[in-house]
Order: sequence, then structure tokens, then C-alpha cells
Amino acid sequence: MASPLPPTPVGVRVRVPAKINLALKVGPPHRDGFHPLATVYQAVSLYDEVHAAWANPEEFEVSVVGEGAELVPQDESNLAVRAAQLLARTHGPYDSLGVSLSIKKSIPVAGGLAGGSSNGAAALLACAVLWDIDISAEAMRALAAELGSDVPFALLGGTAVGRGRGEEVAPALARGTYQWVLAFGHHGLSTPAVYRRFDQLSPQPPPPEVPADLMNALRSGDAKMLGAALVNDLQPAAVDLQPRLKLVLEAGLEYGALGALVSGSGPTCAFLVDSESAAVDLSVALSADGICRAVRRATGPVVGARVIG
Ligand code: C5P
Repeated sequence: MASPLPPTPVGVRVRVPAKINLALKVGPPHRDGFHPLATVYQAVSLYDEVHAAWANPEEFEVSVVGEGAELVPQDESNLAVRAAQLLARTHGPYDSLGVSLSIKKSIPVAGGLAGGSSNGAAALLACAVLWDIDISAEAMRALAAELGSDVPFALLGGTAVGRGRGEEVAPALARGTYQWVLAFGHHGLSTPAVYRRFDQLSPQPPPPEVPADLMNALRSGDAKMLGAALVNDLQPAAVDLQPRLKLVLEAGLEYGALGALVSGSGPTCAFLVDSESAAVDLSVALSADGICRAVRRATGPVVGARVIG
């Protein structure tokens, strides 16, 4: 088979942030099993990098290094590979495109921080640039939505409201920069398992609404108000599956966090603090406690997936 003439660039590197859900309101499941959401995402400064380089036509490969790399599938079930294949199939010619993807992870796997989704978003962007595909932002967003509920937000970044399954994203009015401390769990949590436990614990949840107090806090840039307004309907389910999360959340609040919650389907716990020095103090205290696997500081909001270098 003839090799394509590799157009420049030969390789493209994309940096993509983790997300936390400042609010995650969950309604009763639809017939397809998905739950209607009203969520507020914020992208935070913890990044994965995805590098895309030309491979032979119809070859789609991936290698993964870094945080939790051993837990990431390195075959065609990897969301970054699926993203590349989807782009090639829909905007091809498929039979002349191929890519070798290298993922450098800092976002924990199965942590509730959209680590996998962010890799899918980064691969879409990296391949579009590598293959010189002319695709509108709207068409890219539609492909992202096909890949997963959190993928469109990983492209967008910032602070945004998510509806539908979470894939219908719109930027939110938000002022200020927030300081976060993230506590990683010892073991990941499966998102479908957390939703299943949610269904058992909350058999008839009301239709989900974006909380007005949280949106007001974001509009005014008031970290204290925001801390009090953080909410996650999946938190009881995540804590039920990993009871130690309750201790982690309580410890963070005792050490002075303005607010604490499980991020997404967990098990990462996110703590909002009022200054960089408070973030350092809380990180040290949580690390010394030894109740979580690792602690990272991050700021938000930050931009979504971007080409670097
Ligand atoms: O969309 P994504 O692939 O990230 O979803 C992973 C799983 O999380 C789904 O298979 C489903 O079990 C659950 N989910 C859900 N409702 C949503 C989003 C995800 O039940 N709105």
C-alpha cells in the first residue's frame, strides 16, 4: 500500500486539562441507561499531553507513560485511538491516514477528573492538525460528544455548564481564579458502577437543575460562597463504594478548606481554599495524614485542549 506524503507538521503535541465538577446534579436514568445532568465543569491546571505522529495508513497505535499508565488500555479500546479512528472515518480518506499516539499522563485514571475523556479530546485535536483536516469547531464538538459525555468540555475548558449527558456545554459567566487541592484515591472508581449505586440510593431523583447559589458565587468571584455551594449528587454513591472518602473530605474541611467534594464519579476529592499558601498548608496536612494516595495543587479555570510546541 502506498504511504501518504507526510505533510508538515510531522508531529503535534496537545496539552489537555483535568476537570472537576463544581456541581453535579443527576436526574432519573433514561431508557438507554444514561442520566440527565445539570453540571458545572471547571478545567484545572493538571494536564495530560498527547503527541500524534504519522504512522502507516490505517495504523492507529498508542503508548502511555506516567500516572496510572499501567491501567490504561494500549489497544483500540483506548479513547484516544477511538477518537483518531472516528476523525479518520468521518473526515478521511481513512485508507490514507494513520497515527502513532503517545500519551503522558498526570491525571489519574478512573479518578473522576475526566482523564480518559481528556485524552480523547486531545487526540481529536492533535490528529486534526497533524492530518491537516479542515473541521469546524462545531463538527469537532459533535465528534467529541460521540466519544463520551465529558469529551466536549475537555476541548472547551474554562468554566462551563453541561446539560444532556454532560456533552451539551456552554461557557459560564465566572470571575476569578480558584485554588484547589486534589486528593487522589488509592483505587479508581468505575463511573457506571457509581451511577448504578446512585440509582439504588436515589430511586426517584428530581429533574436536575444548575444550582443558582453556585452560579451567583461564580459570577461574583467569591471563593467562600463557592465553597459553600459545591454539590455532587454522586458523592453519597462514591462514599458508599469507598467509605474512606468520608474521612478524606472531613479531614480537608477540618484543615480549613472553604468547601470539599468528590469530583464527578470519584474517588478524587477536591478542596477549595482561599489562597496559594492555604493550598500548600492543606496539601502538607493531607499528605502527612496518609489517608490518600497523593495530593496535588491546581488552579482553575484554565483553557481546554491546546496545541503546544
Ligand atoms: O459518556 P461516558 O462514556 O463518559 O459515560 C460512562 C458511563 O457513565 C456510561 O456508560 C454510563 O453508565 C454512565 N453515565 C450515565 N449518565 C451520564 C453520563 C455517564 O449514566 N450522563
